Amino acid sequence: MAQDGAAIFKQNCTACHMIGKRLVGPDLTGVTEKQSDEWLRKFIRSSQSVIKSGDPAAVALFEEFNKTPMPDFPLTDAELTAVLGYLGGFGKPAASASAAPPPPPPAPMVFTEADVEQGRALFQHRTSGGGPTCVSCHHVTDKGVVDGGLLAKDLTHVAGRIGDQGIVGILGAPPFPAMAAAYNGPTALSEKEIHALTAFLVHADKNTATAEAGGMDAMLLWGFVGLLVILLGVALVWARRLRKSVRHDIDARQLRTI
Ligand code: HEC
Ligand code: HEC
Repeated sequence: MAQDGAAIFKQNCTACHMIGKRLVGPDLTGVTEKQSDEWLRKFIRSSQSVIKSGDPAAVALFEEFNKTPMPDFPLTDAELTAVLGYLGGFGKPAASASAAPPPPPPAPMVFTEADVEQGRALFQHRTSGGGPTCVSCHHVTDKGVVDGGLLAKDLTHVAGRIGDQGIVGILGAPPFPAMAAAYNGPTALSEKEIHALTAFLVHADKNTATAEAGGMDAMLLWGFVGLLVILLGVALVWARRLRKSVRHDIDARQLRTI
């Protein structure tokens, strides 16, 4: 059982969680003492529904982790028992550990223009390991990027949602089955590729945020200009039509025959 739990944890959770260290998600040392079995099962299956239900512990955690969503894990009861058994094996946090201040958040990542360019290219081409292209499953709205697949989420604003560390965690050990299958073993992404792809996604998030705002203004402006043109056209037509009565020609002809 504990063996299974360790395997399930390694496969699904280590992208974001470590025992004894804060990563994308919290250090899970002693979590089985902190939360009830029922709470943990619900949270692992669908953390967002626990958070949306207003559960104070879940909401506080979500805020503390900058609203990084933990993906849903549709694990069976037996699998959950195994994972929780595994986590329970690590017991309470040591008294000294709980007294120590939490480790500082990871240093902000630095991206160059070259990283962004490389990431944009990588997103649309096979990776060094021969894995599929990201665009075959994901769309990103950015200049120079072809329309992507709709199989998985649009990644245009993923950086805003989960942060650069969240992306690095996911690409290093994809917690989603479709992606895990695509980038596993020999096709795994290299650290350099992950850095470049993260740079590109951070860029896309910022870039389209401003482009979309600009686009909105332009649309309003052109809508207004279009309306003016139509009003002007209508005014011109009416001006011409009103100059003479519609029956003017007929009246003139009739008058001549009298
Ligand atoms: C993509 C990153 C990610 C993955 C993968 C992930 N988690 Fe999480 N987890 C988080 C984040 C972030 C939080 C903090 C709450 C939040 O932001 O939603 C969290 C919180 C938790 C908590 C609550 C901790 C506490 O202190 O109460 C538990 C329990 C947990 N995760 C278990 C798991 C298990 C088990 C797995 C694997 C089946 C897993 N997580 C996979 C990111 C992740
Ligand atoms: C075989 C299809 C497939 C390919 C190829 C793929 N992904 Fe994914 N990806 C998924 C699926 C499925 C998810 C889970 C979320 C969803 O259902 O959209 C996901 C999730 C993600 C997430 C987390 C999204 C979020 O909002 O939490 C990121 C980031 C991501 N992928 C990046 C990439 C990058 C970068 C590449 C290229 C190296 C890539 N993916 C290639 C299928 C794919």
